[in-house]
Amino acid sequence: MRRPLIAGNWKMHKTVAETGAFLEDLLAEDLPPGVDVVCCPTFVALPAAAMILTGSEIGLGAQNVHWESSGAFTAEVAAQMLTEIGVGSVIVGHSERRTLFGETDESALARARAAQVAGLEVIYCIGETLDERDGGDTFAILERQTANLGVLDPSHLVLAYEPVWAIGTGRTATPTQAQEAHAFVRLRLAKLFGGDAAESLRILYGGSLKPANAHELLGLADVDGGLIGGASLDVQPFSAIIRAAADCANGDES
Ligand code: PGA
Repeated sequence: MRRPLIAGNWKMHKTVAETGAFLEDLLAEDLPPGVDVVCCPTFVALPAAAMILTGSEIGLGAQNVHWESSGAFTAEVAAQMLTEIGVGSVIVGHSERRTLFGETDESALARARAAQVAGLEVIYCIGETLDERDGGDTFAILERQTANLGVLDPSHLVLAYEPVWAIGTGRTATPTQAQEAHAFVRLRLAKLFGGDAAESLRILYGGSLKPANAHELLGLADVDGGLIGGASLDVQPFSAIIRAAADCANGDES
């Protein structure tokens, strides 16, 4: 049984003060056991967040990482700089990095490798655009995006399937679309890492996941949690999604 993971991708939201206030409120919530929770603030808010979360059950993630350990790479941050301050995981290859900042399958993989070497858990994002889905290319895209992931360590890897057309749009994949994409990705992972590793690997769904659709999506057989953008920015919807994940893990999907 895969333990669900709910990760909040805050993108370029929340100042250091707002990060602190959010995390204090989240820690005051009576969150259910059995669900891993990770918050991913901006780089500048990570040190303050790390101090607040020390000793808590809530994990801390970054939103990007560079593949070199140091050097002339203006504005980039190395994996060791993240682990030094207590960051445990990192999002890699998010579609906004791919479409707005030139991230490629190759650069995302290089980041993921460096992150794992430094001891970080990698949340590796994949997913098709609307044109690709409408053109019937969804599975070909997922195949391409996962083609070289076999060099990664599956025990410190989480996949995040995020159909680009569902991110921040209010449009979600239907349960059928999500389940078939996740099942396809798990088959790919089985080819790369073997069946046992693929069965234990978590595949998150991302794209307008919110309390209203959390039970139906998180209850799907191959959906092991969520990467949440908009609904992770307020404590109440984020906690509601965490509770939905716990309900689904306990077999109560209503
Ligand atoms: P969203 O973002 O939940 O706001 O659609 C998800 C993501 O980009 O990871």
